[in-house]
Amino acid sequence: MSPEVIIRLKDAVVRRDGQDILSIDSLEITRGERVAFIGNSGSGKTTLMRMLKGYITPTRGHVEVMGAPVPLGNRARMRGYHRQIGMIHQHFDLIGRESVWQNVYHGRLGYVPFLRSFLGRFDKGDREICMRALKEVRLDDKLYRSARTLSGGEQQRVAIARTLSQEPTIFLADEPVSNLDPALSEDILDLFGTICVAYRLTLLISLHLPELARRIADRIIAMKAGEIVWQGLPEELSEEKISEIYERGERNGEGYDRLERTNEFHMSWGHGAKGHLVPGS
Ligand SMILES: Nc1ncnc2c1ncn2[C@@H]1O[C@H](COP(=O)(O)OP(=O)(O)OP(=O)(O)O)[C@@H](O)[C@H]1O
Ligand SMILES: [Mg+2]
Repeated sequence: MSPEVIIRLKDAVVRRDGQDILSIDSLEITRGERVAFIGNSGSGKTTLMRMLKGYITPTRGHVEVMGAPVPLGNRARMRGYHRQIGMIHQHFDLIGRESVWQNVYHGRLGYVPFLRSFLGRFDKGDREICMRALKEVRLDDKLYRSARTLSGGEQQRVAIARTLSQEPTIFLADEPVSNLDPALSEDILDLFGTICVAYRLTLLISLHLPELARRIADRIIAMKAGEIVWQGLPEELSEEKISEIYERGERNGEGYDRLERTNEFHMSWGHGAKGHLVPGS
């Protein structure tokens, strides 16, 4: 039996200010696959993820997720769709004043009727799902700590648990380790790997460092100026290919500088990695 295609893009274009910021001729991702996206700043990684989440409408083309077009414009179906697409960001987006437990509970909101969630009434099933997610990320001993007191790595683990409690089918992780030091980045990526296997999730992850992409991915896709310029197995990503992928000449001219800056940042990040909370949290 051939593997099930869970994401299928055909001639998908996002156009802004007279330019195609995303232009993908053809892309297929199968269920359970772990795909890492690399590429310069501005190459379209976030745009692709936001389009798959349903936050951005493609200007033209075909975007099919889980066997059907993204149900844009249909609020009722979109709620169900959002539940199935977990998304995590570089800045974790936790509510700093709330506890670990409360933050993870938020992952259940898509399942709970408005009044019940407003009153904070979650049933036993919801609690069990949250607890299992917290055990998975090894934070079940910090349930009542407020999120702002956690280290960066712990905050990202809460964000992962919150997404897991949502019971997604697809996990979109947009630069989830860019705020963490190298050792912690590797830990978090390994956690992603374990979780994706355990929950049979399909993972799309964008990463700035090619060596991190090699660590987690079954397949690496390189983007440049909104297009896929290379894809292959992690062991096929040679140093020459990396230089080509990150060579200067991008529309915004940031190219390799950004990679170098990122590397410098990672190397100079000695201690005290702190996560980032959303403004006002
Ligand atoms: N709403 C918008 N209007 C105009 N241009 C946009 C808009 N959103 C994104 N862009 C442009 O689209 C391009 C792709 O942006 P995107 O955020 O997807 O890149 P990225 O690969 O995620 O970059 P980074 O590595 O810095 O996160 C950039 O040139 C960006 O300026
Ligand atoms: Mg981005």
